[in-house]
Amino acid sequence: MDKLLLQGGARLSGEVAISGAKNAALPILCASLLSAEPLRLTNVPHLNDISTMLRLLGEMGVGVTLEADGLILDGSGLNNPVASYERVKTMRASILVLGPLLARGGEARVSLPGGCAIGARPVDQHIKGLQAMGADIKVEQGYVHATARRLKGARICTDMVTVTGTENLMMAACLAEGETIIENAAREPEVVDLANCLISMGARISGAGTAIIRIQGVAKLHGATHAIMPDRIETGTYLCAAAITGGDVRLLKTSAAYLDTVVDKLMDAGCDITVEREAIRLKAPRRLQAVSLRTAPYPAFPTDMQAQFMAINCVADGVATIRETIFENRFMHANELMRLGANIQIEGNNAIVRGVDRLEGATVMATDLRASASLVIAGLVAEGETLIDRIYHLDRGYERIEEKLARLGAQVRRVN
Ligand code: UD1
Repeated sequence: MDKLLLQGGARLSGEVAISGAKNAALPILCASLLSAEPLRLTNVPHLNDISTMLRLLGEMGVGVTLEADGLILDGSGLNNPVASYERVKTMRASILVLGPLLARGGEARVSLPGGCAIGARPVDQHIKGLQAMGADIKVEQGYVHATARRLKGARICTDMVTVTGTENLMMAACLAEGETIIENAAREPEVVDLANCLISMGARISGAGTAIIRIQGVAKLHGATHAIMPDRIETGTYLCAAAITGGDVRLLKTSAAYLDTVVDKLMDAGCDITVEREAIRLKAPRRLQAVSLRTAPYPAFPTDMQAQFMAINCVADGVATIRETIFENRFMHANELMRLGANIQIEGNNAIVRGVDRLEGATVMATDLRASASLVIAGLVAEGETLIDRIYHLDRGYERIEEKLARLGAQVRRVN
């Protein structure tokens, strides 16, 4: 199993390009299930989660052609509307096939995801929404078995803001009969990117990016070409990596447009940030100021950046309180950061981080994707060597992380 070996102390500087967004690419790949015509995608990140999704779509009969700058998905041969437990257990986002399969072919058999490292993460809202659209859904032997003649437009109000729930229902509604209104919809930029792709395939969607999305169902969708948006979480992660090292970096092929709260917090921490049209430059002070935060659905502070900010607070000047409101068990990185010498106290869904003068390298274990990123960030400043085990979590969501960090001057290498 691969591990990442970091030698702390290097100040990051220089330029690096940000990849396409994993969380936009995953639902957009599933949009190929909605049409018999080819969907051509560019700026698709090279990540394990993307390969898993392509394998899953391939098993269902979707043709996948890799091109130099992207890929083409051909949904004309869709013949097996099944997502097995083997696939879904490695990637929860597999649930995103449920809505499109049901809408296009009238049937889907998708394994229930089960628990995961950061919490229970049920999919009841996906199911409730599809039932409101007329689907007949049975949960048997761990699988969601859904059937429908043709879905019917409905007014759906989700109990909580759910990102993949909104995406699943929006995709299903594209081919439903009549109008669907999703209230309490997720406003995440990735939802908007998916909506834009669906619109270019002929869907009639308005309101994506607001809490009320309206979809007028159409009989079929056609082929299209779409470029995946830049990854705002990868962008934020590299900003934190630069910030903790007192660095000066310029991130290319990205945008600060969807990162307001993250950029604001980094400025509160003392960083100087310059926003360009398709780049962001960050210059960090020698020592950061502690910054408190509370995670919440977009446009508030993203839960996917919580662990990285915990890492920078570990060595900042002062005390920070971090409140996690989305997932009930998303502080697993705290214990690993403490192995590096951090001073963190967990009280329910609050973490109190008291900045220390120095961290010391140790062997630590990655527990989930963003937790792993926080260990990398801490390892950049921990004195001596930090060895991060189980980095397959990192490979799910960060493209060539060691190469990109090394380009910025980090002492990092992958070891087996
Ligand atoms: C997506 C992101 C993930 C991010 C999360 C929150 C993708 C592929 N993943 O995950 O990176 O951390 O949004 O921004 O885009 N919930 C229910 N019932 C449901 C659905 C959700 O109770 O049917 C709860 C979840 O347990 C969680 C909260 O709602 O507590 C939000 O989860 P949700 O937005 O659905 O997360 P994902 O879409 O799985």
